[in-house]
Amino acid sequence: DKIKIFSPSTVANVGCGYDVLGFALDGIGEEMTVSKRDDGQLVIEEIIGFDLPKDPAVNTATVAAQALLDAVGSKQGFSFIIKKTINPGSGMGTSSSSSAGGVFAVNELLGRPYTSAQLVEFAMEGEKAVSKKAHADNVAPNLLGGFTLVRSYEPLDVLSLPVPEDLYVTIVHPQVEVKTTDAKKILKKQVDLSMAVKQWGNVGGLVAGLYESNYDLIGRSMVDVIVEPIRKILIPLYDDVKAQALADGALGCSIAGSGPSIFAFSKGEETALKIKSMMQEKYDEVGILAYTYMSKIGEKGVRTI
Ligand code: HSE
Repeated sequence: DKIKIFSPSTVANVGCGYDVLGFALDGIGEEMTVSKRDDGQLVIEEIIGFDLPKDPAVNTATVAAQALLDAVGSKQGFSFIIKKTINPGSGMGTSSSSSAGGVFAVNELLGRPYTSAQLVEFAMEGEKAVSKKAHADNVAPNLLGGFTLVRSYEPLDVLSLPVPEDLYVTIVHPQVEVKTTDAKKILKKQVDLSMAVKQWGNVGGLVAGLYESNYDLIGRSMVDVIVEPIRKILIPLYDDVKAQALADGALGCSIAGSGPSIFAFSKGEETALKIKSMMQEKYDEVGILAYTYMSKIGEKGVRTI
């Protein structure tokens, strides 16, 4: 009647795939211990690491878990202890780690009424609670691992994509606040057809690159002509960090989710580590606190530990 799980951090959008592409990180994420309780309540007993809302109507773990319980018609209560390791508001899917973790744990303790793919819809309710929009590009890789593509939202159709063996990701999280709701508001509602043509060419190219483990194709497809030009103004040193990452051998570099984190793909660990040091130095030089991470793509999604 008790379970401990690990829920990975994720990066949504992956450059060109706004609201549709995402991937999981390997070994970077949060832990959650969930146990049944007899009073029918959802209670967040403790959040370790950061000061986040414990109100079950607000926290993404319990909001998402409640969506599952409503669907299954269960009045079972659960207690949650959440151990966060990544700063909230990073663009590294910290809210979705909790959304996906909450539904995964509750589903396991109820005897697994739903498959991981079915859990995506419930986890999206947690995302809606924080960003007003029920996007799935973080919760899908969180639940399924690897790279995922949301081919359609209505009806929801999520595909798993292959993970090239030597693909590494480096991330820097400069400590400036960018709320997903604000980062969505500043985007234009209309897209120029010539821009759309470029964007969908790149989405197709990136997907093909993942299938072929074609690193050059992945790199040249990581071009976002619609969202990045608008959002990058919210991120200090963005152009400088990106230019240096590409000069240091990154395949591509873009905004992680809705920012402010920046991520770069590299072929091989050596280049990824070099870019990690560079990113840290860039922010250290100007006195902006920043955290850096490096990992392979996480092939596994949320899991029992
Ligand atoms: N894909 C969404 C966005 C959520 O970019 O606004 C990412 O966290």
